[in-house]
Amino acid sequence: MKRVYYLYIFLIVLLITGIAFSFSFYKKADTFDEKLTEAQPSSSVPTYHFALIGEEMDHDYWRLVGDGAKATESIYDVFIEYVGPSRSNPEEQLELLDMAIKSKVDGIIVQALNDDFTSLINHAVDAGIPVLTIDTDSPTSLRSAYIGTDNYAAGQLAGEALVKDTGGEATVGIITGSFDNAHHQLRIEGFRNVVDQVEGIKIVAIDESNITGVEAEEKAYTMFSENSEITAFYGTSSYDASGIIAAANSLNREDDLYVIGFDTLDENIDLLQNGDIDVLIEQQPYEMGYQSIGIMLDIIKGGSVEEINHTDVTAIRKADLANWTREKDETP
Ligand code: BGC
Repeated sequence: MKRVYYLYIFLIVLLITGIAFSFSFYKKADTFDEKLTEAQPSSSVPTYHFALIGEEMDHDYWRLVGDGAKATESIYDVFIEYVGPSRSNPEEQLELLDMAIKSKVDGIIVQALNDDFTSLINHAVDAGIPVLTIDTDSPTSLRSAYIGTDNYAAGQLAGEALVKDTGGEATVGIITGSFDNAHHQLRIEGFRNVVDQVEGIKIVAIDESNITGVEAEEKAYTMFSENSEITAFYGTSSYDASGIIAAANSLNREDDLYVIGFDTLDENIDLLQNGDIDVLIEQQPYEMGYQSIGIMLDIIKGGSVEEINHTDVTAIRKADLANWTREKDETP
């Protein structure tokens, strides 16, 4: 009799616990549903879905490109899917381009790092998807237009700054992001075009950093150790100048070294401010992203589109910093 009694008690407790759990689960599911409903866009889905494919998401330069493009979602009837490898990885970037083609987006905006991008860009265009290149062009492809820096002219600007500031006397080492990437090749060609005409300037060594600060430092250290006559360095990628300076500091050579770098990342601005970097070549990544969407819409709607849309490049020195603001702060 006692055993039956305990069994009843046990069953009742089990029942109550079951009801309590079901109720709590129901409440959670209900709250989740409410959140989902809140997350649904109140308006309808935008007419145009564009893919923007950059070089590296975990990088301030590309964050600005993305911010510029995304800012247009409140102006135009567009949704921008902004994707890219977290760190520079051309193969992954090509896969993302392939995926964008397969998912039949309405337009693709892509940085065309090298010749491997040409056939996929052509494939997209053949499939009816217009392509706009950004930051790095692929002029031989079927892309409709390019928006970004004139990388050859940016190299010339760096060369002119070096000639001016050194009085035409310098022994130069170059650290470039990658020998394979079109924009870095152009930045070197433009630089050479200027300095090769000046007798007192000699380029004695060149190596690649693979778009990392660590490799920039390693390569600059080796280059400096093997060529102690170097008086100036030119870095063509965002992290090259800081890598060069770290190497120069380890070798106690920073004081007499002239350094030109690319991009106004915060750390580069600090190094310009404290005199370690002499000149920074400033690009307009936010503007590139921002303008790219209007251009893509013009392409789609058959409006007249300039094939080449160059954004500004400027050489900035420490003295310019007093009146300098980051471009994002100025763009609407
Ligand atoms: C280049 C970009 C590159 C970025 C980060 C910029 O100087 O224009 O192409 O992705 O640096 O390496």
